[in-house]
Amino acid sequence: MRTIRVNLSANGYNIYIDKGIVEKIGELLVEEKKEPCKTLLITDKNVEKIYGNAVSESLRRKKFDVSLVSIDPGEEQKSLETAGMLYHACFDRKLDRNSLIVALGGGVVGDIGGFVASTFMRGIPFIQAPTSLLAQVDSSIGGKVAVNHPKGKNMIGSFYQPMAVFIDTGTLSTLPAIELVAGLVEVIKYGVIKDEKLFEYIEKSLHEIVQLNYGALLNIIDTSCQIKANVVAEDEKEKHIRAILNYGHTIGHAIETLTDYKKYRHGEAVAMGMLYATKIAIEMGLTNNAVYERQRTLFTKMGLSLNPGLDTGDIIKILYTDKKTVAGRLRFILPLRIGEVIISDKVTEDVLYKVLRHGK
Ligand SMILES: NC(=O)c1ccc[n+]([C@@H]2O[C@H](COP(=O)([O-])OP(=O)(O)OC[C@H]3O[C@@H](n4cnc5c(N)ncnc54)[C@H](O)[C@@H]3O)[C@@H](O)[C@H]2O)c1
Ligand SMILES: [Zn+2]
Repeated sequence: MRTIRVNLSANGYNIYIDKGIVEKIGELLVEEKKEPCKTLLITDKNVEKIYGNAVSESLRRKKFDVSLVSIDPGEEQKSLETAGMLYHACFDRKLDRNSLIVALGGGVVGDIGGFVASTFMRGIPFIQAPTSLLAQVDSSIGGKVAVNHPKGKNMIGSFYQPMAVFIDTGTLSTLPAIELVAGLVEVIKYGVIKDEKLFEYIEKSLHEIVQLNYGALLNIIDTSCQIKANVVAEDEKEKHIRAILNYGHTIGHAIETLTDYKKYRHGEAVAMGMLYATKIAIEMGLTNNAVYERQRTLFTKMGLSLNPGLDTGDIIKILYTDKKTVAGRLRFILPLRIGEVIISDKVTEDVLYKVLRHGK
């Protein structure tokens, strides 16, 4: 088992990574000094079928008084309505300040489960048990919890750290292949922003990763969590450096918004956004074509579609309404080389038009 510490001054916590951890959550929680208590296990219907029992049983063996509540799968469920239903479940089960919420599932369950935990009685303890690759390397770490609003994705939320994160690499064996690939984009993102070795490793071991080789998965998940933990420890509330995690996300979000979050998975849109950001960096003389080609080659091998088929003007219009606009200026994360990026608010509309018009 690998253990990574997220070092925060007020509320640090551990990330545990291993195969088969879902069956040991009860024991590990006791080791974390969590007394047995009323526990609401929040999951979605896909994940419940496969892992609901194993997790409930593991908690019950250690005397946690568990009730399971399961939402329909899908991004549409990350809403205030579903949160309302979950608050009802909290009241029904008579949860109190010492109770526990366990979020078992992908990023949707983690985000809404964390949001409910952060707001019920002004905040009760919760743990993340992420089961998709995206949730394991990204959304379960760092304490951003949220639901969507019709006016914008993730717009209602807060920073609320879990007590611990339990990552079972074995759960990836049941994850649909396209979800694995979409999550892998975020891992490649970490390579570009912070770690050339990780990027090289993925170039060399893509086959092993998609074949779910245990050692390969452990390696990329461990390295990704370490990078995210370090960035979050440096800048928990995204005042500055944490923004580098948004590499590829500025244009990626615009693509998701324009396609109603239906045509592309988040990771697919981010892959396109990463290529656009790199083209912008090339256009501004900050990096070279090899940085672009290496990313494109990987994405192509992963079978990702790289052309959003959208109108340039529409993308630009959406960009200026993105919440990442700071005082009217767009903020981009631009690569200098594989392993190093800068935060820039110097991207002009001219450059944007040029890059978006010519495609990637
Ligand atoms: N909080 C953050 O910092 C942060 C960061 C990135 C993304 N997110 C959020 O994460 C969400 C996306 O997360 P996601 O990609 O995990 O989507 P998701 O939660 O919708 O999961 C994807 C699909 O895989 C299924 N699934 C999950 N694990 C499975 C498993 N082991 N076996 C079989 N099926 C499984 C789910 O039921 C779902 O159908 C978005 O809402 C996004 O906003 C949050
Ligand atoms: Zn992302």
